[in-house]
Amino acid sequence: MKTSKHIETNVLHAGIEPDPSTGAIMTPIFQTSTYVQSAPGEHKGYEYARTQNPTRDVLQKNIAALEQMKYGLCFSTGMGAVDACIKLLSPGDEVIATNDLYGGSYRIFTTIFAKMGINFHFVDMSDPENVRAKVNDKTKMVWVETPTNPLLRIIDIEAVSTISHEANAIVVVDSL
Ligand SMILES: Cc1ncc(COP(=O)(O)O)c(C=O)c1O
Repeated sequence: MKTSKHIETNVLHAGIEPDPSTGAIMTPIFQTSTYVQSAPGEHKGYEYARTQNPTRDVLQKNIAALEQMKYGLCFSTGMGAVDACIKLLSPGDEVIATNDLYGGSYRIFTTIFAKMGINFHFVDMSDPENVRAKVNDKTKMVWVETPTNPLLRIIDIEAVSTISHEANAIVVVDSL
């Protein structure tokens, strides 16, 4: 896709091509689960909906254009995204998370992932220095929520990211 210096133009066009089978300008909602392959492994970029889906592709490209990033990934629920992020980690890795966060995230961290050897520390991130105080060489991820749920605290993403990136930790911002 050609990109413009205007984000509105990029977002309007991101990923959208007229549908080749009908000419529909806007991407149809594809509900197909399985796609025909002309030979095993030979297909038009789509084989099974869990891995690729044309409607989701456009949505993801639009999210990327909105965020002015290369890639966007969409999940059917917020908890699906939370789960996928933590699965980037390995047993023994540590996460520093805000101490005020969505109950579902807190529960999946402490009751599921803690059992798998991921260690969580919860700190008040309204002062980013509390993150610096906890960072160590096992810190692989820093989990920000802003505004926090439920207390609507605001976390300075840039300040927390600077501290976390110095330690080579991935920063996640859950801003649902
Ligand atoms: C901050 C935050 N993260 C994650 C979730 C989970 O999203 P979902 O209910 O789509 O799984 C919520 C839901 O309210 C949320 O507020």
